[in-house]
Amino acid sequence: MCGIVGYVGKRQAAPILVEGLSKLEYRGYDSAGVAIIDEAGNMNVSKCKGRLANLEGKLEQEPVQGLIGIGHTRWATHGEPSDRNSHPHTNEKETISVVHNGIIENYMHLREWLISKGYKFYSETDTEVIPNLVDYFYDGNLLDAVMKAVSKMEGSYALGVVSTYEPDKIVAVRKDSPLIVGVGAEENFIASDVPAILNQTRDVYYLNDKEFVVLTETGVEIYSAEGEKINKELHHVTWNADAAEKGGFEHFMIKEIHEQPKVIKDTMTSRIMPGKPVTLDDIKITKEQIENIDKVYIVACGTAYHAGIVGKYVIERLARIPVEVDIASEFRYRNPIINDRTLMIVVSQSGETADTLAALREARAQGARVIAVTNVVGSSVSREADDVLYTWAGPEIAVASTKAYTTQLITMYMIGLFFAQNRNTLTTEEIESIKNDMLTLPEKVEETLNHKEVLQKFAANTYMHKDMFFLGRGLDYAVAMEGSLKLKEISYIHSEAYAGGELKHGTIALIEPGTIVVALATQKSLYEKMVSNIKEVTTRGAKVLGLAVEGNTDVEKAVESAIYIPEVQEVLLPVLSVVPLQLLAYYMAIQKGCDVDKPRNLAKSVTVE
Ligand code: G6P
Repeated sequence: MCGIVGYVGKRQAAPILVEGLSKLEYRGYDSAGVAIIDEAGNMNVSKCKGRLANLEGKLEQEPVQGLIGIGHTRWATHGEPSDRNSHPHTNEKETISVVHNGIIENYMHLREWLISKGYKFYSETDTEVIPNLVDYFYDGNLLDAVMKAVSKMEGSYALGVVSTYEPDKIVAVRKDSPLIVGVGAEENFIASDVPAILNQTRDVYYLNDKEFVVLTETGVEIYSAEGEKINKELHHVTWNADAAEKGGFEHFMIKEIHEQPKVIKDTMTSRIMPGKPVTLDDIKITKEQIENIDKVYIVACGTAYHAGIVGKYVIERLARIPVEVDIASEFRYRNPIINDRTLMIVVSQSGETADTLAALREARAQGARVIAVTNVVGSSVSREADDVLYTWAGPEIAVASTKAYTTQLITMYMIGLFFAQNRNTLTTEEIESIKNDMLTLPEKVEETLNHKEVLQKFAANTYMHKDMFFLGRGLDYAVAMEGSLKLKEISYIHSEAYAGGELKHGTIALIEPGTIVVALATQKSLYEKMVSNIKEVTTRGAKVLGLAVEGNTDVEKAVESAIYIPEVQEVLLPVLSVVPLQLLAYYMAIQKGCDVDKPRNLAKSVTVE
């Protein structure tokens, strides 16, 4: 996710950049760095691995002077966290420096092209192509060179560029990554987000995609991609610093829930493309190895385990391989049957969960191949697994996982399709149709996020209850488990998830007048059966919130309130159906006045057994 800042004015840039970066550390903290042009016109880059404090220590020992500069705090995507991979990146002559937030999808191609022109590369990052491209195109006008460089780039980016050739200006641009411009008195700023500049100015321009900006001490000029000058409205920010860090949302959790359309899209970027086979980056597993797999274990904890349960349905359905899902702390002690035809998929947002890591080691010791699905580049599971697939959710701050879960689901689909492709269990048309539907998910999650009112109302009427039940069949049951966990984690309301058909074997004894039930009935093939289960509980007095696919309005006859999600093929529905459940848990917790982002007794990452 990364954070970028830039300053040009009359004051020393370093302390302003460092202060700005300190407000952006929530966007990543794998490394930090600054590039500052001193008054003699020299480029000075100072950067190092680890949290911002390391950079601060370095700058104390070797101060960098200058009134113009750019800074970066990194959340690694391409290339492990290291000094070498830290931003800013420069061209070989160190005349051009760049900070970047986003992913350049075609960087391999650009890199090879630049190497053929004599350019040298020192890092594993996608970003390093940018200063070299700008160098290649520089012909006396920095803005023009950045425009030409950007026209060659595919992917997402917010960029800050400085050059010793024009040491009085910062050139910046964005596409699909955030960037704002702060306007001060004889000084100007760029930043990924408002908190970074809030102590300096409250007057900002919000840039749109493909808008370029040139900042000098005295002015800010904004241009379209065609080079035409644009007049934009200057906004005055009224948020306090705390609200600004959360993007105007009250909590990180709700902010992260709203980030899902973007991060789902990011996770599919360059992997799911119409008309092209599913491409899983650096995965080394061969077709032959995939064909030889006779058993898959998905092993994880908490929310990641719930993503694994969806993964079981998906991989069995798409690739026809038997899958077992295990809680990591159970798996490691139950002497599972493993051999060299076993594939283990570990799922871990942090990549550091002690039990998950121990299960991975156990499986590898017994000859299994391991694929890690994780959100953190360079994390322990990513280092120890045979293959790694990153979820590109960016840092997740709220303890209750939301955007990591939906990106884990996307990864399960990608693995299912990739295996189906290699084992010929689906036709090209079938794969294409799932991929095309996957590409509509960001927009459909966005639509689903609009159903807040029904959920807020339901929460206001039910938050005082001590127990709740979640019911579902098939994939809806898997999502019900995650909905129930979310509710427990942050609202402290006891809840249980049940498979609809299992209800009558015990749990129905707990249903009495007024019991609250959330019933998921999104699966077409199980819809009628689920409606029967809803009737079973309503006849016993339960108050039901029903969740169905748009158009299935007859569900309203059986429930207290209903909420609808857009239609998409059945296997993909969990990505949409979990969203109202995340929101419901959130509104319940708000009603109860709970500490949503830091629920009691819980930790974001559990690195002990
Ligand atoms: C903790 C967190 C959960 C998370 C689980 C697994 O319990 O509170 O939100 O799902 O760990 O974490 P991981 O980083 O391995 O996905």
